[in-house]
Amino acid sequence: MTMAPKKRIAMHPASATAGGNIINIASGKGGVGKTWMAISLSHALARQGEKVLLFDADFGLANVDVQLGLNADRDLGGVVAGKINMSQAITPFGEGGFDIIVGKSGSGQLADMGRARLSELKSELWQLAQRYDRVVIDLGAGLESAVRSLTPKGGMTLVVATDEPTSLTDAYAYIKVSKQENSKADMRLVINMAGDQRMGERTYGALAKACRTFLDYTPPLMGIVRRDDRIPDAIRRQTAFLSRHPQSNAAEDLESLVSTIQKQPARPAKPPA
Ligand SMILES: Nc1ncnc2c1ncn2[C@@H]1O[C@H](COP(=O)(O)OP(=O)(O)OP(=O)(O)O)[C@@H](O)[C@H]1O
Ligand SMILES: [Mg+2]
Repeated sequence: MTMAPKKRIAMHPASATAGGNIINIASGKGGVGKTWMAISLSHALARQGEKVLLFDADFGLANVDVQLGLNADRDLGGVVAGKINMSQAITPFGEGGFDIIVGKSGSGQLADMGRARLSELKSELWQLAQRYDRVVIDLGAGLESAVRSLTPKGGMTLVVATDEPTSLTDAYAYIKVSKQENSKADMRLVINMAGDQRMGERTYGALAKACRTFLDYTPPLMGIVRRDDRIPDAIRRQTAFLSRHPQSNAAEDLESLVSTIQKQPARPAKPPA
C-alpha cells in the first residue's frame, strides 16, 4: 500500500461541526511518539485531501518544528504574549500540504496564563478550527488539567500507548482523569511501537480490560503502528517521515489509522467555556 498524495476533496463532514473536527494526541507518559504521530497523522490526512492544521500545544517542550527542521518566524509564543493572533501564527508546511502553529518551549505553562487569557486562546483556536477539515493537537506529556485545557469539548482524543508498563499505567490514568472531568470525553487508543499487529492487539486488550474493569468504559482501538527504525532515522534527519518513507510499514499503519478516523461520524461540539 502506498501513501500517494490525493487531490483535494470536498470538505470532510467532520468540519460541519467545528470543534468536533479536533483530534487531540495525548499519552500521559512522555516519549511514546505523540509528536511523531501528530505530524505524521496530519501529513497522512493531508495526503487524503483534507485541509489540516497541526497545533503544537506542548508548552513545556514544543518540538514539532524540531522534528521537521522548520525555521518558523512565528510561533505560539507571540500569540501567548499578545503580539499576534492565532491565525497570524500559522506556518504553511508546503512539503506536507498542511498548516502548523509552531509551539514555544518554555513559554510558560498554560495554567500560569490566567483563566481569561486561556479562555481567549481556546476560543481563537475553536474559531480557527472552523476553517479546517481537521485540527490535530499535539499535547504535552502529563496528566494535569493544563495539558488538557485547550481541548474544546466534542473533539476526540487519541491516547497513544506502547507496551511498556509505565506507558500503560499512564495511559490508563490519563483516560481516568479525563473521564472524571468529562464523562462524555471521547477517548480512543492508538498502540505505537508494536512488534507486530498481534502484539499491538494484546497491548490494546490489556489496557482496554483495565478501563472496562475499573472505569466501566472501553476506549475503542483506532490503530496499531508498528515499531519502525526508519522513524528515529527520519527524525534525526529532521525530515517528514511520510515524505521519506511513504511505503514503509508505519506508513501503511498510518493509512489504516486515517481510514478508521475518516469513518467516524462527526460529533457536535460546544464552543469552549
Ligand atoms: N513506531 C515507532 N517506531 C520506532 N520509533 C518510534 C515510533 N514512534 C516514535 N518513535 C520514536 O520515539 C521517540 C519519541 O517520539 P516523540 O518525540 O514523537 O514522542 P513524544 O511522545 O512526543 O515525546 P514527549 O513526551 O517528550 O513530547 C522518537 O525518537 C521517535 O523516533
Ligand atoms: Mg512530543
